[in-house]
Order: sequence, then structure tokens, then C-alpha cells
Amino acid sequence: MNYNFDEIIDRRNTNSLKFDFAAQNGRAADILPLWVADSDFRTPQAVIEALAEKVRHGVFGYSDTRDDYIEVLQKWFSHRFNWHIDPEWLVKTPGVVFATCTAIHALTKEGDAVIIQQPVYYPFSETVKINQRKLVINQLVYKHNKYSINFEDFEYKIIKNKVKLFILCSPHNPVGRVWTESELVRLGDICLKHGVTVIADEIHADFIYRGFRHLVFANLKPEYTDITITCTAPTKTFNLAGLQISNIFIANKDLRNKFNQALAQSGYHQPNLMGITACQAAYRGGEEWLDALIEYLTANIVFLRGFLQQRLPQIKLIEPEGTYLVWLDFHGLGLNNQQLEDLIEKKAGLWLDSGPIFGVGGQGFQRINIACPRAILERALKQLEQAIN
Ligand SMILES: Cc1ncc(COP(=O)(O)O)c(C=O)c1O
Repeated sequence: MNYNFDEIIDRRNTNSLKFDFAAQNGRAADILPLWVADSDFRTPQAVIEALAEKVRHGVFGYSDTRDDYIEVLQKWFSHRFNWHIDPEWLVKTPGVVFATCTAIHALTKEGDAVIIQQPVYYPFSETVKINQRKLVINQLVYKHNKYSINFEDFEYKIIKNKVKLFILCSPHNPVGRVWTESELVRLGDICLKHGVTVIADEIHADFIYRGFRHLVFANLKPEYTDITITCTAPTKTFNLAGLQISNIFIANKDLRNKFNQALAQSGYHQPNLMGITACQAAYRGGEEWLDALIEYLTANIVFLRGFLQQRLPQIKLIEPEGTYLVWLDFHGLGLNNQQLEDLIEKKAGLWLDSGPIFGVGGQGFQRINIACPRAILERALKQLEQAIN
């Protein structure tokens, strides 16, 4: 099959968070958005057809999944990640952030400490703070354009703050790392040693570039299976975020019961019919599309790298190993925070995600979403070049 990822689909006036709400966010209406983590590509045809069939049926009553739903998930995770899921482990939620929040309610009380690795996806810190838990930060180490983990600091802070919960971002948004087995095992062993439960947010696991491999954290050791809540979703992979469905896997019965209890307390019960329909159709029929998309994104990265090297060498690309969110180092421009914001938003007319919102270590960086047609990426880079020059 040929897939045309170059097609520019007009997303304006579609209720798109990315395209329709610039003015409400105090930005110019014509700003070019490459921020929020959805993509500008049409979902696979199999998904569109499955949704269309439901629409034609026209009855949208309370719904739930049948056995064939978990079977499709089992196939996907065993085939792509060699991870064998027990149907009992599955809990469906309307999103991964929702699941993270639910896990915080289920497993900690006010004042308990939760550790995260900044710079990281900003709802991690927001979720911890809004629930009055104590935020503990294990800052990632940035050296020679690459990120790594300070394990001594991770363990020290867990002990010092009596940390209960660790929110792992794997692969990591925004620094693009696909954590290796030895990194994950060092983190996992520290968590085991100190009785820390792990929320493994693996929502970006389907976007892994050549030479790297995503390892399901819970699958690395049976002991990790027992302490982990693995958060997955088809929503980044197949561009379904507006349909609100995520699949959470919790092997430990006690953890699962606590999670389900907190879920019930939140008032959430059956999943969204369109979400489960799209999820099942995507995992069943979207694999070839996804593989083609990864090739396309790889070429977008090649394009971005070449452009920066030749025309904007002051900006450093943090080589992405996974995810379609690329972390760029703007320190070479020698600007302060406000000057950098003005450059990106006012002079270049771009809406990116500003580094500092990802927490400590984010200053001087910007995150760009490359899940768009190449022509859009090129336009964005040319606007940036013009603004700088
Ligand atoms: C690491 C990470 N987790 C979770 C989410 C959001 O997931 P959901 O829409 O299912 O809440 C995102 C979206 O950008 C993300 O990057």
C-alpha cells in the first residue's frame, strides 16, 4: 500500500486544539502550530471504516469491549514488544493522564512523595501538585547533546522523601530517549529495593527509530510485573486522541483492585464506543500504515537534521531515538527566556512547546512536533531561519 503522508489536511474549524484555539491562548490566529502531541495525518482507512459503520448503525448506547478486543491487544503487544498480556490485567480509562491521576489517588495520600524525571511531559508534575502530593524531581543529565539518568540522585531522593510512586516516561517525552535494558533495570531495582510502585507511561512506545528497541518495563523481570501499572494507548500511534481511550495493564491484583476502586470513585464506568471501536480496528488493521508512518517520520528527522546543520547550526538537535516530539537546544543563540519566546512566537510565527514548561532543565529548549507533512516542517524551519537572520 502507498500512504500519502505528504497530503496537507486542513484541520482548521474541526475543534482541533492545535489549530482552532490560538486566539483563546493569546496567540496570533495564523500562527503555525507544531506543539500538542497529536499528528496531522489521517488515521488508517480500517479505523475510518470501523467508525463509519458504527455511525451508520446510529445507536450509541452504553458500550463495552468483548473478548475480541483484548485478543487484538494481546496480538499487538506480543508481536511488537514480545509482551504477553493476561486479559485480567486490562483496565480501560479515557486517557493516560486520567489513569496516572487515578493511580495517584489509589496508591498515595496527600503529602506522599512522587518522583519524576524532568524535563518531562508537563502533566506529570501538574497531576502530582494538583492532588497535593509532594513532587520530587530526579533531573535528567544533559551532556554532549544526550540525556542520561543520575541513578545516585534517584535513589537518594527516594530514600530522603520516602517516595511511594515513580512516574516513568518510556520512551521519554520530550528528550526522545528510548531507555536501554540496563537503564530500566537500574531504575527498577531501586524501586523494588525501596518499595516504590511504578507508573510506566509507555504511550509513545510505537514510535521507535532504527537501531533502538522499546522494552516494556513490566516485562523485564517478574518482580517488576508485580509493582507496575503500565499505561498504553493507541491514541498517539493512530492519531485518535480526540476519541479518548487508553489501555492500562496491572498484573498485581491488589494494585488493580485499588486502581479500580479509585476509578469507581471518579465516577467513570463504561468506555467510549468510538474509542474502543477505533482502538480495536487500529491494532487489528493499522500495522502496515504505522510502519510506513515511522519511515516518513524518520525522513522528517533527516530533513530537520540537514536543515539545522546547513542553515541553523546554532540550534542543536537532540537525536530522537523514539517519539515524534523533537527536543531542540537553542542555547547557541545566546538569548534569555523571554527573547527566545519572542523569537519563536512573534518573529517566526511558530507555536512550539517552550522548554521551561517541562520543568527543570528545560530552559533554552523548545519541543517541536514533527508528525506533520514535510512541507509544513519545511515552512516552519524557513520561518525560524528568517526570524533568526
Ligand atoms: C508521555 C505522555 N503521556 C500521556 C499523554 C497524554 O495521554 P492521554 O491523552 O491519553 O491522556 C501524552 C501526550 O502528549 C504524553 O506525551
